[in-house]
Formats: sequence, structure tokens, C-alpha cells
Amino acid sequence: MSVSELYPSPSSVVSALRAAGCVFAEDEADLLISAARDHRELAAMVERRVVGLPLEHVLGWAEFCGVRVAVDPRVFVPRRRSEFLVARAIALAPPRPVVVDLCCGSGALGAAVLRAAPGELHAADIEPAAVRCARRNVEPVGGRVHEGDLYDPLPAALAGRVDVLIANAPYVPTGEIGLLPPEARDFEPLVALDGGADGLDIQRRVTAGAGRWLAPGGVLLVETSERQAPRTAAAFADHGLCPQIAVQEESDATVVIGTRLR
Ligand SMILES: C[S@@+](CC[C@H](N)C(=O)[O-])C[C@H]1O[C@@H](n2cnc3c(N)ncnc32)[C@H](O)[C@@H]1O
Repeated sequence: MSVSELYPSPSSVVSALRAAGCVFAEDEADLLISAARDHRELAAMVERRVVGLPLEHVLGWAEFCGVRVAVDPRVFVPRRRSEFLVARAIALAPPRPVVVDLCCGSGALGAAVLRAAPGELHAADIEPAAVRCARRNVEPVGGRVHEGDLYDPLPAALAGRVDVLIANAPYVPTGEIGLLPPEARDFEPLVALDGGADGLDIQRRVTAGAGRWLAPGGVLLVETSERQAPRTAAAFADHGLCPQIAVQEESDATVVIGTRLR
């Protein structure tokens, strides 16, 4: 069978996607058909989606805060719920803010803050694939991306100058990784998901280090789950950050926000 006979019509793409369990098969088919340059590419994209790759990895982009963000294979797909953290960060940013996006993944969150609140942005991640991807999203809007463990790769000159520090760090408890949808479990790296025994290992390290980097009055915003939020907030309080829990029910988003007192 030739490649063009495999998916001769849009409805044949929809059928293949539906048979593979894609709930939004029509919408996905439209996206794949408009992204593919020819039949061969369309067939390859459908095959990758059918074996379970996240749609965003097949397309090479995700929609986030109204723009298309590049998302490379093995890089965490930014979730729409994280737009809530971005909105809160923008609302709290002073004019010309210094912004740091820790555990930046694709860099979608920091880039969205910088687009709405122009200033200085530094993003960082430990995964080389994420760092390469973040450079594609963050550098065109004027930010910089660093590779390394949490705060280690940040320029020392940022200490005490950060107005807005955001982190969507991994927060899935190790024992619950197996319960994640296969798209996440099989195609996003463990380091992007696994937050340790109670899910809060990385968040605790982020909060413990924040005081050195935040400017007086600067804010730390960490995405978490509603269930984990009281413990995330306790970690903030342990490190001198007065915590507030913000929830957006419709997107199932929970963010803990803490201010470094002057
Ligand atoms: C849940 S993903 C979130 C990515 C991005 N913030 C987003 O919301 O799309 C967590 C990210 O944290 C990174 N990460 C995990 N441990 C890290 C560490 N110790 N230092 C820096 N980055 C880390 C992972 O590589 C991954 O990109």
C-alpha cells in the first residue's frame, strides 16, 4: 500500500486516531493534517500519535498563554493549568522585573511572564534536552537559559535581586508515577515528574534556597496540588516566606505564593 493510500482522507485519519483512543480525534486530525507537508509526513505523524506519543511531541509545539511554544521529544509538555501561575506572577511583577524560572522545562512559563512583563529573565533546568528546547522559546523574547541543578547555574550577580521566582518543579510522589497517563509516564522524563516520597523534595529545596536570591519584597510562586498545598505552604513558612495558597478550580491549578519580607 502506498503512503497516500494509508490515509486517503481526513476521515481516515480521524478513524485511526479514534481507534487508538484519542478522545479529540477530529481536532487532532485537523492539527496533524495542517502540520504535515505531504502524505509521507502525515502518515509518520499519525503513526507516532497512534503509539501514544503526546500530540504536542508529534506536532513539535504546545499552545500556552496564547502562543505556540516549541516542545521537543523527552521535554515536559507545558500544561494549561500552569497559565494560572503565570497570571499570578504577572500580577505581582513590579515594572521591569527580574524574573527567574527554575525547573523551566520548555521555558514556556518564564517566556510568558517576560512577554507580559518585560524585564530580565533567567530560566534554568537540569536536563540538557529541556535546556536546548528552552533556548528556542526563551532567547527570542530576550531571556537567558542556564543548565544545572536548581540555583547552581544562576549568575551570582542575581543574588538578592530577583523580583519574581517561579517554579513548576516535579511534584508527583514516587509511588504515584505509575498512576500517571501513559503519555506522561512513557514519554516525559522521570526527572520532570518524580518529586520524591511525598512529591515535595524539589519544592523544599527551591523554598530553602529562595531567600538568598529574592529581592526584599520579592515573591516565590510554586505550582503544587490542592492536596499537597498545605505542606508546600509549610515549607515556605519554614524558610521565612509568608505563604498564601491560590486555587483556580476550573483548571485544577494550585499555586503557593510567598513574599520575602523587607
Ligand atoms: C514538571 S516539569 C515542569 C517544566 C516547566 N516548568 C513547565 O511547567 O512546563 C519539571 C522540570 O524540572 C526539571 N528538574 C527536575 N529536577 C531539577 C533540578 N534538580 N534542577 C533543575 N531542574 C530540575 C525537569 O528537567 C523538568 O524540566
